[in-house]
Amino acid sequence: MNRIRLKDKEFELFIPESKIKEAIQGMAVRIKEDIKGTDPLFVGVLNGAFMFAAELMKELNGPYQLTFARYSSYKGTSSSGEINEIMPIQVPVEGRTVVLMEDIIDTGFTMEFVINKLRNAGAADVKLATLLFKPEAMQCKLVPDYVGLSIPTDFIVGYGLDYDELGRMYRDIYKIVEPGK
Ligand code: IMP
Ligand code: MG
Repeated sequence: MNRIRLKDKEFELFIPESKIKEAIQGMAVRIKEDIKGTDPLFVGVLNGAFMFAAELMKELNGPYQLTFARYSSYKGTSSSGEINEIMPIQVPVEGRTVVLMEDIIDTGFTMEFVINKLRNAGAADVKLATLLFKPEAMQCKLVPDYVGLSIPTDFIVGYGLDYDELGRMYRDIYKIVEPGK
């Protein structure tokens, strides 16, 4: 499929599944090396990171602990800047290495909020793995440890990412087509 339509918006193919998988494989190699000798807790950030987390966990294929948490900040196609904690991390993090798995970092407010919470809760080390990164949209002092792909500041859907809760199950990533194009 080269084009999809979700509600009032049109999207075109941007990143095929093969390229996404390749990026995740590269991240897995680096993460595996870095967590040697620790007892890491992997945290998938719902809903957007469900597909990325599943693929990364399959690549790591190891004895590590995994949990999920959920936050929300997005309304439509822009970040609201106000973070809601819908489902907190329900595993004690004190003294542990925590590896956050996020679908995309846009303004950075969501991950800044989560990382601060983890540090306050006594996590020994917090690492941030994000499948996608929009460096030009960043508004925080935040440097992700593992980035799958850096992309321009366009709105995208697929591979877990949604537009008004639609589009998450597409295996490829699509970019918004501005009206008239
Ligand atoms: P941030 O707090 O602005 O960094 O926003 C991060 C969250 O916004 C991510 O976890 C995504 O769920 C969502 N988000 C950011 N950019 C996009 C996009 O292009 N499409 C869909 N969701 C996005
Ligand atoms: Mg998300």
